[in-house]
Amino acid sequence: AHGHSAAAAAGAGAAVPASADGISVPELTADPDRPADVHVELTARAERVSIAGGEPFDGFTLNGTTPGPTIRATEGQLVEVVLRNEDVPAGVTAHWHGVDVPNAMDGVAGVTQDAVMPGQSFTYRFVAEQVGTFWYHAHQASHPQVVGGLFGALILDPAPETDAAAAADVNPPAVDVVAAIHTYPGGQRTIGGALGDSHRESAPGDIVRVRLINTDSTPTSAWVTGSPFRVLAVDGHDLVGPTSLADQSVQITAGGRADLEVRVPESGAVRVQVPGASVTIGPDGVDADETSAPREHLDLLSYGEPADVALDPEAPDRRFAYDIGRLPGFLDGRPGYWWTINGGMGAAVPMYMVDEGDVVVMTISNSSGEGHPMHLHGHHLLVLSRDGVPSSGSPWWVDSLDVVHGESFEVAFVADNPGVWMDHCHNLPHAAEGLMTHVAYN
Ligand code: C2O
Ligand code: CU
Repeated sequence: AHGHSAAAAAGAGAAVPASADGISVPELTADPDRPADVHVELTARAERVSIAGGEPFDGFTLNGTTPGPTIRATEGQLVEVVLRNEDVPAGVTAHWHGVDVPNAMDGVAGVTQDAVMPGQSFTYRFVAEQVGTFWYHAHQASHPQVVGGLFGALILDPAPETDAAAAADVNPPAVDVVAAIHTYPGGQRTIGGALGDSHRESAPGDIVRVRLINTDSTPTSAWVTGSPFRVLAVDGHDLVGPTSLADQSVQITAGGRADLEVRVPESGAVRVQVPGASVTIGPDGVDADETSAPREHLDLLSYGEPADVALDPEAPDRRFAYDIGRLPGFLDGRPGYWWTINGGMGAAVPMYMVDEGDVVVMTISNSSGEGHPMHLHGHHLLVLSRDGVPSSGSPWWVDSLDVVHGESFEVAFVADNPGVWMDHCHNLPHAAEGLMTHVAYN
């Protein structure tokens, strides 16, 4: 196949009734007899890809496009995704980044399943229990496959008449913009599947929820011109009491998400920018001013209002250290200058063992000389403090957290999802260079 052009993040994958097609459903997933509410088929291909206006490259598509289709479901629905591999030689999987799915559905080749080889398929089933902005991506040979196009957005909407729905409709968004930030081979920087600036039509006065997903390996800043904005959610968790911001930018961790609320002005348009690409939202043909990145970064440690959380970190059942360093040595027999965890490398790093129900406090510190976006699968982490300074804003829940050189974060989570879970750096080349271990249940 040649010449497939990339589509802008499109609507939901076709929602057709699930058919019993003989694909076995592993244990630990939703009731196998329950019909799916959202059924999506994804076919992965290796092919020549070009983004409109860009340079063609050897990449990957899902259903002929990259990003793959946006999958959208409502809280409580059973999501079923059949992933087929047409011809991706290394095999593929789908990992639901930020969604606390049952372990067997986590999509990590070599840990929770075998890679889906050419001609094979795998069916994922999980109930949407969370609400917010998530994404999915290949987790086999992750670095080339994600960069080359095997990813898409996953949006979980609140069920009507739940607390989350009530909270989300403080300002019901007239317009919902899903915008993955992604750099394709050759440094082709896109937002929402398009190079440069792209336009979303919206009327003056519209309130827009912009769901930014950083699919790259390094953090990105994002900022807004033409409207004040608020950060409504980080990593799929609504922030409590977010206030209006203007001359600031938001840092989005590699793998992380930030939902911004903007308002289309009475005249003109609003522009959401990241370095090298932007989305303009407003009436057709109306442009917005471009500005360079503001110097000041929003500090999420003190943004919003404190609130109670369902986790008491005062007397944890376990305390772990996740100390990131770098040393010369051998990783799987290869000599190099590798990342270390608590001084160990590769197989020498023990897993973090927990019991179901444990409250775990982990101190992640970094003296490795580079920043690392740390990502724990299957759980979400509450940020307690950074460099000894306690969190003073909204509860700040993450699944992806930037830990820069010299920094130390204390985070907490509840071990409430049995299995073996990766805990790794989402700068994907770093993960391949050994910055990767697991949390496992006794
Ligand atoms: Cu988004 Cu282990 O990854
Ligand atoms: Cu890293």
